[in-house]
Amino acid sequence: MLEFKWWQKALFYQIYPRSFADGNGDGIGDFCGMLEKLDYLADLGIDAIWLSPHFPSPNWDWGYDISDYTGVAPEYGTLDDFRTFLHEAHARSIRVILDLVLNHTSDEHAWFVESRSSRDNPKSDWYVWVDTPPNNWQSFFDGDAWTYVPERDQYYYHFFMKQQPDLNWHNPQVKQAMWAAVRFWLELGVDGFRLDAIGTIYEDPRQTPHTVPMTLAELRHATDLAQSPQEKQKVAEYWNEIFKHQTGQPGLHELMKELRTVLNEYDGERVLVGEDDNPAFMGNGWDELNLVFNFPLMRIEAPLTSSWVCDNQATRLAALEKISPQAWPCNTLGNHDSSRVYTRYADGVHDAERARLSLALMLTLKGTPFLYYGEEIGMRDYLIADPAQLRDTMATWYHDALVNDLDVDPLEAARHAAQMTRDKNRTPMQWANLPNGGFSPAGTQTWLPVNPNYAQGINVTEQQHDPNAMLNFYRRMIHMRRATPALIEGDYQPVHECGSEYLAFIRATAEQRVLVALNFSEKQQVLDFSQLRYTTADLLFSSAGHAHRQENLKEIHLGSFEIYIVELH
Ligand code: GLC
Repeated sequence: MLEFKWWQKALFYQIYPRSFADGNGDGIGDFCGMLEKLDYLADLGIDAIWLSPHFPSPNWDWGYDISDYTGVAPEYGTLDDFRTFLHEAHARSIRVILDLVLNHTSDEHAWFVESRSSRDNPKSDWYVWVDTPPNNWQSFFDGDAWTYVPERDQYYYHFFMKQQPDLNWHNPQVKQAMWAAVRFWLELGVDGFRLDAIGTIYEDPRQTPHTVPMTLAELRHATDLAQSPQEKQKVAEYWNEIFKHQTGQPGLHELMKELRTVLNEYDGERVLVGEDDNPAFMGNGWDELNLVFNFPLMRIEAPLTSSWVCDNQATRLAALEKISPQAWPCNTLGNHDSSRVYTRYADGVHDAERARLSLALMLTLKGTPFLYYGEEIGMRDYLIADPAQLRDTMATWYHDALVNDLDVDPLEAARHAAQMTRDKNRTPMQWANLPNGGFSPAGTQTWLPVNPNYAQGINVTEQQHDPNAMLNFYRRMIHMRRATPALIEGDYQPVHECGSEYLAFIRATAEQRVLVALNFSEKQQVLDFSQLRYTTADLLFSSAGHAHRQENLKEIHLGSFEIYIVELH
């Protein structure tokens, strides 16, 4: 039996540094703030942090446009602050993984500044240059994927904003330079990396045009307007087609293997998590990435249903099993690019119950769970009505394209932009019922507005004193998981057929068997588990708040949206 690795057992928590904790009161999160909150995180019970980019950046994409891969953004602190943070996290047994953006740099990175300066400089081939745009490829963020540079009288390629030029990964010098940055952080002791947008690293060498009869803005708009199943299917097909030749191209597996060998120079403990859902990136289970996200679980129009989760698990676990018996799942329901869990899976009636169910899924399904900052207090999306206040440039671009190119009414354009912007799920963490939610001192302009619902109990300090608050629910469930090895290491066996209003499954190791039953409806359920042939069942957790008790497996009563977990003997 193979030993479980730390990253298989860990509960990850994603920090978006700009929005987590403002230590120096300038309206922007920083390392000093994060350092102060490490005890909070330790107490919550998380084991590892995924830190969204903390590198110097002109912030066209808020850190995902990196201008120096071995530095720290001055607004977040210094390299010494980073070292202290890492040291103090480790002292609390919290691991830290960084965000590694391989596909592109910032256009202000010294590599690009040199590359764009002439056709014959030493880095002229570090990016993807062409004499004339060879096709109609689009950038996912701002329309045309080819941008002109007069100094070279050529165009460069960018899958994201034009301020994010794509690196030419066919050039071995690019690899060497990037692997040097990777080694820099590994030597400092970081525990691994979350790999940004790996699917976009290579492009179709034949440069085949796409066949979608729309521009990016038109497609986004059509998606916003799609109502009928036919319309929705059509836009889904178009989304598939439009970037088909710019993503998932040959060469990625070799590259990921190479990166794996760089990590293996250190010890067998550093982890690679891919921002991709293709299990093929796990190679033979150990020679590429350690984890890729189960994004298909998130791809549901709210709310989550038990049959959706049940089907997802069947498909996902089978796909992983095909790769290797060791391929390990990785689940998440929210991140800095998507609507917040509390909002996304809500039904307008049982939102809090559904948010609790979402956590229960993360903590009881097989695989490494990733949570997103703020979900533990039930933070919601915050819509920014005024387009001038948007900070997410992809949304600004979309808004302007709607108004200027597609003649959309400005109010409607503002509404669409407010919905699509990622600003809504990146607002500052709400620490207290104080001005600015206690994120920054009163009177400070925070980089994004604080959701005013901090004053309605959506804040850490008040929830800490309320046993019924979301925060204490998170803490209780997380600590229950920590004390229940089967929920961490056990295999997953569905108990009843998919399709009912509840989900029931067993997580089992050789030593422990746990039955999880999750009621996805407001209706009470009376369930018979006597076919499982266990004689006793000890209650480990119930969201209905029952005290410790022995259960009768022939007749389990699940309350409305109850989360119910028993140990079987
Ligand atoms: C990834 C990141 C996203 C970023 C993009 C470009 O998808 O998660 O936030 O904008 O890559 O780097």
